[in-house]
Amino acid sequence: MNAPIDTRFVAAEFVAIADAAVCLANGGLVAFPTETVYGLGADATRAEAVAGIYGAKDRPKFNPLIAHVANLDAARREGVFDASALRLAEAFWPGPLTLVVPASATCSVSDLARAGLGSVGLRVPAHPIAAALLRRVARPVAAPSANRSGRVSPTLAAHVLVDLDGRSDAVVDGGPARVGVESTILACLGNGVHVLRPGGIPRDAIEALIGPLATETAEDGKLLASGQPLISGQPLPPGQPLAPGMLASHYAPRARLRLNVEVVEPGEAVLLFGGHRPAGLERSGPRLDLSPDGSLVEAAASLFAALRSLDASGAATIAVSPIPTSGLGEAINDRLERAAAGR
Ligand code: TXA
Ligand code: MG
Repeated sequence: MNAPIDTRFVAAEFVAIADAAVCLANGGLVAFPTETVYGLGADATRAEAVAGIYGAKDRPKFNPLIAHVANLDAARREGVFDASALRLAEAFWPGPLTLVVPASATCSVSDLARAGLGSVGLRVPAHPIAAALLRRVARPVAAPSANRSGRVSPTLAAHVLVDLDGRSDAVVDGGPARVGVESTILACLGNGVHVLRPGGIPRDAIEALIGPLATETAEDGKLLASGQPLISGQPLPPGQPLAPGMLASHYAPRARLRLNVEVVEPGEAVLLFGGHRPAGLERSGPRLDLSPDGSLVEAAASLFAALRSLDASGAATIAVSPIPTSGLGEAINDRLERAAAGR
């Protein structure tokens, strides 16, 4: 027998992740699980790779993408962290938080991924598969939610296939996303900390760390109108939303949504919460309770899958029970309002 050699024991998952990393490094598109929703990833440093994301999603080009990195050190090579950005990153990373900070002089995230802005959106995801992939690729990975633009975000690999089969080189299946709503996006651009999008880290957890937040949304033009330097010293072009992804109708099922419903119309599909029994339920179409026990954590995790499933029933309208606005309820209500907008 030959002299014994070092036999590597390699988990099957590792092979899949190594394979996905090679695909990304070659400029391909890989959909992968994060703790919030599945992302459609590409090498953020290469404009051609990033262009593939916009193409696969049919996404308007003015929408900047979040650059995902393995850890805070990697993030600090891409962006400039002031004291509050640093505290937030140290407290909530890895986790469902995105920080929009001024791009650093060494920022490698392509202009296309940043939509030409002087800032960069950075996130260190907490999913073990995402973390392993990012460590392996060792460069920022641009990843919007892995759905076609304007559709409901995917919380299962099967959802990704519905929208992106034939459009992404690979989909890494990591089971259901634990959090279920996208990351909270905070802007730390030197004039206070602003919420650009409510999400997986509730407001009260953030305020417990750094004190009261200022809230500015796309609809709230105050900051923009103030002409203050928002993005690395450059005011945004007039009319450009602060977080451009926050267009009013963003998370849209095909069916019309009716919110805070106390009386269900005959045949409507119904999205319930906490065992709520609106009047008319006996004549309704299919119904789902996001959390019979009234847990907002459970409701966030099941929200997008429930919307997809009720939408697939073919009902013209989905009636939605009132959902509390505390904790993760802010992000849940935000997504429902967007899904209901303009329909
Ligand atoms: O949980 C999440 O955040 C998921 C997972 C995959 O990480 N990603 C996600 O990405 O939701 P996306 O592309 O669907 O939403 C990114 C949001 C958009 O609203 C975009 O406008 C905003 O981030 N954004 C990114 N960079 C920005 C920047 N430099 N300035 C302002 N907004 C930015
Ligand atoms: Mg999205």
